[in-house]
Amino acid sequence: MSPKNMIFAAALMLVLVMLGAGCAKEVSFSKNVMPILEQHCLACHQPGGPGYEASGLSMESYENLMKGTKFGSVTKPGYSGASTLVIMMEYEHDPVAMPRGSKPLAPEQLKLIKTWIDQGAKNN
Ligand code: HEC
Repeated sequence: MSPKNMIFAAALMLVLVMLGAGCAKEVSFSKNVMPILEQHCLACHQPGGPGYEASGLSMESYENLMKGTKFGSVTKPGYSGASTLVIMMEYEHDPVAMPRGSKPLAPEQLKLIKTWIDQGAKNN
């Protein structure tokens, strides 16, 4: 390979590595997930709110969310499809779907939360 071609190959590899890193970008709990929960869920899911009083699920902090309801966890790290948190938000037409009494989350918001759980539901 000529030196010129080697430089080209190296540059191409660098671009590919950067693209790969971009695709696997981690969803952040504090930057991406929490703002959605604050906007759509927190009013009911904190002490004094109907969601907390009925189920025990508080979304005031990562620790509270991970603790789940009085019956246990609503997030299964690595498995968004088996997480009650997600299941509740996907039943758009079910009378018990979340957020209760208002419009379902936008698809991209739901996707962020699912990706966060699939990436391990980390406190990041
Ligand atoms: C207007 C109030 C209200 C809002 C807003 C709300 N919830 Fe709830 N949530 C409730 C109530 C009440 C319950 C108690 C269980 C029931 O009635 O189904 C509950 C229970 C839950 C449960 C436990 C369900 C179970 O069967 O274990 C989950 C998970 C949940 N909510 C998720 C959410 C999420 C996620 C949001 C925001 C996208 C949200 N909620 C917004 C009122 C609310």
